[in-house]
Amino acid sequence: MHFGVDYYPEHWPEDRWSTDAKMMQEAGFDTVRLAEFAWSKIEETEGNLDFSWLDRAINILANYGLEVVLGTPTAAPPPWLTEKHPNVLAVNKDKQELKPGHRRHYCVNSEVYREYTKKIVSNMAERYGEDDRVIGWQTDNELGHPVCYCDDCRGKFHTWLRKKYGNLDELNRRWGTVFWSHEYTDWDQIPLPNDNPRKGPNPSLHLDYKRFFSKSTVEYNKLQADLLRKEAGDQWVCHNFMPHFPNFDHFDMADDLDLATWDHYPTEIRESYEEVSAGHDLTYGFKDKPFWVMEQQCSYLTRDELTPAPRPGETRMWTYHSIAHGADGIIYFRWRPCRFGDEQFHGGVLQHDGSRKSPGYQEIKSVGEELVELEEEIDGTVVDANVGIYYSFEQNWSMETYRYHSPIDYKEEIMNYYRALFEANVNVKFVSRNSVLSGLDLLLVPIMPMADQFLESKFEEFVKDGGHLVGTYRSGIKDFDNHVTDRTFPGRLSELFGIEIHEFTPIKEKPEVTLTDFRGQGKSYRAVDWVDCIETKEAKSMADYETGWPADKGFTGISRNDYGGGVAYYVGLSGEEGFYRDLVSGLLEESGLEQIFTGEKEVEVRKRIDPLNDEELVFVLNHSSEPKSLQLDGEFRDLIRSETFTGSTEVEGFGVMVFKEK
Ligand code: GLA
Ligand code: ZN
Repeated sequence: MHFGVDYYPEHWPEDRWSTDAKMMQEAGFDTVRLAEFAWSKIEETEGNLDFSWLDRAINILANYGLEVVLGTPTAAPPPWLTEKHPNVLAVNKDKQELKPGHRRHYCVNSEVYREYTKKIVSNMAERYGEDDRVIGWQTDNELGHPVCYCDDCRGKFHTWLRKKYGNLDELNRRWGTVFWSHEYTDWDQIPLPNDNPRKGPNPSLHLDYKRFFSKSTVEYNKLQADLLRKEAGDQWVCHNFMPHFPNFDHFDMADDLDLATWDHYPTEIRESYEEVSAGHDLTYGFKDKPFWVMEQQCSYLTRDELTPAPRPGETRMWTYHSIAHGADGIIYFRWRPCRFGDEQFHGGVLQHDGSRKSPGYQEIKSVGEELVELEEEIDGTVVDANVGIYYSFEQNWSMETYRYHSPIDYKEEIMNYYRALFEANVNVKFVSRNSVLSGLDLLLVPIMPMADQFLESKFEEFVKDGGHLVGTYRSGIKDFDNHVTDRTFPGRLSELFGIEIHEFTPIKEKPEVTLTDFRGQGKSYRAVDWVDCIETKEAKSMADYETGWPADKGFTGISRNDYGGGVAYYVGLSGEEGFYRDLVSGLLEESGLEQIFTGEKEVEVRKRIDPLNDEELVFVLNHSSEPKSLQLDGEFRDLIRSETFTGSTEVEGFGVMVFKEK
């Protein structure tokens, strides 16, 4: 495990640095991330590099046993650069050029910016690549925005399209440009999706622009990663993702990195800790291995308004929350709030006065002490899951490019299923198009509009081999050109699900559509947003519509098809909250998956496993400030308190327990 802090020595007088390093060591820290916004401090004017301050900072930190992760500073171009080359500035959707004065105002496609990127990254890599006090690198900072529409992007988009389609006839066919007289006879005629401010651009063009911007971002990261690797000895390369950022395919980028990390700010979504859990699980999924939290919240935040400070015990619980989901490194953001700049009231481990009396310092120091004991148990463990959720940035883009699907929201539907799994306290894994599915018993594939031969075979194989797969409405309706299929819905997936769909409807008004009581719990379930009218062929009905015209016409709402050794379910509707809970608990039962322990709502249970001896660590986390009850089926020893618990027990407010199971 690594335990540390994000530090900005450039914001503080040098004579304070040793005190900081000493206090960090006392807090139990072993790692510090540095320099990710320090470009103007390293290169105040073009070509005049000054690493001496960074050398001194690294020296001081090393004297106190602290290892360093260095960030490349490209998220914050210095003024001399943008003054000399204003064409590196990004242009937003409303065609405004982003001016300097903040950060992230550059275009990832600017060749000029890429040249400067190469220089600063190589200079840093040459200087510190062999330095064994530096253990790893972070590329840039939270890539993925702004989506740019500048002239460089336009030119490169056209080149990208030429390469993809070869000739305009092919592009015209695959974009369906005959619609509204868009047939292009010259590549330069091709617009960007924001050129015409009226409603929707061509969905095929729009999807390609999203793919293009994603590839550009991935390429920009790779440019840095390759340069760093050239000089790096044993150092690894990571990026700090914001896993819910939609504008590039994070799985794709992760292929070029050694480690995935993310920035974990739970109070932003305090009402939905499930979403935070999903952030952890997604980041785990990017490389299917333990990750780091590169920025772990530990104080109030500068947002549109200041967010509340964590309550006593909350930072500790967040820390364990990260670890439970597979974090092997926890780096708190930030050491000490800066006295100036945009984030002057963004709290840190310390407060502005730098004293040990800061609540963050006190709490984190004691977490550090606990972790020293636990580290041996945690090291080498991974997260394993029998339940997977198929997550695709590209499928989401397909939905986004055709906004008339509204009110359906891809990510929200993923979260509806995720929340239900979360409540059942089972480990969940996010998988992508290229993931190996063989370890999974149950795979959920909410809303997958685009299908091709590859996905069709992949899912068919999974089910033939005994897997249980759940698909939903709006699946298989399109090809990867974003054109609607001319097959009967769900298109290529009809055979797998054993159904046909000839009618569907968004639900906006009464009469209400409800579903029969398929769980035998005396409930009926209201459809919200969408209804697919399923006609079963090889499949059987698991639940019919009970009221509304789909019921009058005798349509099925959920079908179940025995296929090979497994089962393929199709869920035709999006439902109210309890619907997902009951559906998912039934699916878990059917797939023979049980939840670990039952706790009251807001108690989360997660497992890490040691692949060498199958020993499991079971983490119990109370996300609320109130004590909550937990049912244990057996006798368990809490490694933190060295006490044994059995049967019905209580987890204190923001409490954490770690059990070891054979
Ligand atoms: C992001 C950035 C940090 C900082 C924090 C504030 O995650 O990476 O530099 O601005 O937000 O919460
Ligand atoms: Zn651009």
